[in-house]
Amino acid sequence: MWISQVRALNLLLAVLQAMSEANSSGCKLQGTSTPPALYNDGDFLIGGIFSLHYYMRVVEHNYSSRPVPLQCTGRLSSEELHFARGMEFAIEQINNRSDLLTNIKLGYQIYDSCAAVPMAQKVAFQFANGQDTEITMVTSCSKVANVVAVVGASSSTPTMAMCRVLGLFGIPQVSHFATCACLSDKQQYPAFFRTIPSDQFQAAALAQLVKHFGWTWIGAVRSDSDYGNSGMASFLAAAQKEGICVEYSVAFYRTNPRSKVERVADVIRSSTSRVIVAFLASGEMRTLLDEFGRRPPPPLQWIGTESWVTDQEVLKSGLFPGAVGFGIERSVIPGFREFLLDLSPLKVSNSPLLREFWEGTFDCLLPLINTVPSQGVKKCTGTEDLSVLKNPYTDTSQLRITNMVYKATYAIAHALHKVLCEDKEKALSQCNKNKAVEPQEVLEQLKKVNFTVNGYPVTFDSNGDPVATYELINWQVAEDGAMHFVTVGRYDASKAKSQEFTLTKNIIWMNGQTQVPVSVCSESCPPGTRKAAQKGRPVCCYDCVPCGEGEISNKTGIFW
Ligand SMILES: *[C@@H]1O[C@H](CO)[C@@H](O)[C@H](O)[C@H]1NC(C)=O
Ligand SMILES: *[C@@H]1O[C@H](CO)[C@@H](O)[C@H](O)[C@H]1NC(C)=O
Ligand SMILES: *[C@@H]1O[C@H](CO)[C@@H](O)[C@H](O)[C@H]1NC(C)=O
Ligand SMILES: *[C@@H]1O[C@H](CO)[C@@H](O)[C@H](O)[C@H]1NC(C)=O
Ligand SMILES: *[C@@H]1O[C@H](CO)[C@@H](O)[C@H](O)[C@H]1NC(C)=O
Repeated sequence: MWISQVRALNLLLAVLQAMSEANSSGCKLQGTSTPPALYNDGDFLIGGIFSLHYYMRVVEHNYSSRPVPLQCTGRLSSEELHFARGMEFAIEQINNRSDLLTNIKLGYQIYDSCAAVPMAQKVAFQFANGQDTEITMVTSCSKVANVVAVVGASSSTPTMAMCRVLGLFGIPQVSHFATCACLSDKQQYPAFFRTIPSDQFQAAALAQLVKHFGWTWIGAVRSDSDYGNSGMASFLAAAQKEGICVEYSVAFYRTNPRSKVERVADVIRSSTSRVIVAFLASGEMRTLLDEFGRRPPPPLQWIGTESWVTDQEVLKSGLFPGAVGFGIERSVIPGFREFLLDLSPLKVSNSPLLREFWEGTFDCLLPLINTVPSQGVKKCTGTEDLSVLKNPYTDTSQLRITNMVYKATYAIAHALHKVLCEDKEKALSQCNKNKAVEPQEVLEQLKKVNFTVNGYPVTFDSNGDPVATYELINWQVAEDGAMHFVTVGRYDASKAKSQEFTLTKNIIWMNGQTQVPVSVCSESCPPGTRKAAQKGRPVCCYDCVPCGEGEISNKTGIFW
């Protein structure tokens, strides 16, 4: 993590230096600005950042020429595109409303972070500074921030990097998917909010789940990132208190060499525990899937975190029947499906991102303006139909994280409404379109928001966190042989202790069994014997030795 801090500082120094070089004629942008992936103009802009692609292009610097601009590569994530479109939808809806930001048009700039820290930081600076290559000002280079607030990012590490920049300028950031408990620290991240619960709650909920089903011998695998490391540390601390023993705890990151991933997979394949808790981000889960696709592990009871347990692509792999984990509640956003499907070849042609999605989805090329498609490549016919497609972009049956994006966008709109339309001192009768909004004003109002949208409440506590509620999800195989997400319970952190966790349906476990799988290091000792600790092994592992003279043990499994 400190690497990202050092990077942030270096960038900041570069910016300060650029500022000091300014003279009365203006300030010059030192780098090359990146254009937004999706945008619309408005009276006030909201920034958005999503992991639209999986990787950032790695460039070897030779320090003899100006570095080329950062660039995202890899596959386009249709899920993340779906999130970004959720933000566009919320803004269009707000602009249509007559009771929220009346007569004000909200605009937006949505960027691709490719889940990478350098890109996220660069975008953070653009949110603060705008894209003008030259700023002409008579006295100083200070100016109003480009955006009033930011929605995003989609994972914890890039979000932290951005917060450190945006926080300096008081620009609020509301994430839909960054769950690291570390982000609750308001000394470090004073301008950060989120609509998704902190992993602190998920870790506690997972430990309760493992204890509830009597598993005392488990394996653990995590993403080697802020998300996985901090989440797993919280889980292990909670599990230890419950007397749960951990056979192994391994970590990897999706860009690690394959040999590293193989080693992790081997540990999992050769383990004796039957239950594995996976604090993995979707990216790492997919990497592991590739590995398991080559050589599957023996049947294991997988316990998952919200990042992968509601991921359609992981579900589709068919590898983890019976998996159980906490997910963000499923929700309904009326009108969103129609909005998603309302794309045409003409519309997508104007946006490189949407064009990439269209061409990738239908496996055809759209005609480029002024160019003739090369021979042998299939041209799009114009009859491509999104509505018959089954992919994460069009699927609105499982809206979970999308609702977090939607809530985040609305939270910013409500805060901005207070700033522009409810200025008590000035007794405004209508919204002030010409006000120079300071991000700090929006920040102060965000702390106080309290509203419901589509029946879902939105508030933040003093750490910028929402009330933590999760659904317990179970991957069940239906009669048609396909695997589905089934909600089997609920976790609500606002309930009294011991009532937080409720089961509402039967769980179908690994191998399709209805009995709870057993995962212990040693079986309970029968009457007439007692436990004897095994040297150098966890307390859950022991031998049963006959009772000594004068001793009696008439119960099963009693601790010595
Ligand atoms: C200010 O900077 C510009 C561009 O770097 C330069 O052309 C100009 O001569 C400078 N003016 C003064 C007064 O230093
Ligand atoms: C350094 O890299 C840049 C772009 O990556 C390239 O254009 C240039 O030729 C390289 N220079 C040397 C000396 O290798
Ligand atoms: C906003 O209003 C326009 C015009 O009435 C309509 O076409 C559009 O679907 C509305 N958008 C949303 C998101 O409600
Ligand atoms: C939000 O408002 C409702 C009623 O309007 C109130 O009951 C609730 O306590 C408020 N929540 C917070 C966190 O202020
Ligand atoms: C075990 O022995 C204790 C003390 O003699 C007695 O109270 C208890 O009922 C016995 N339990 C069983 C399961 O036999």
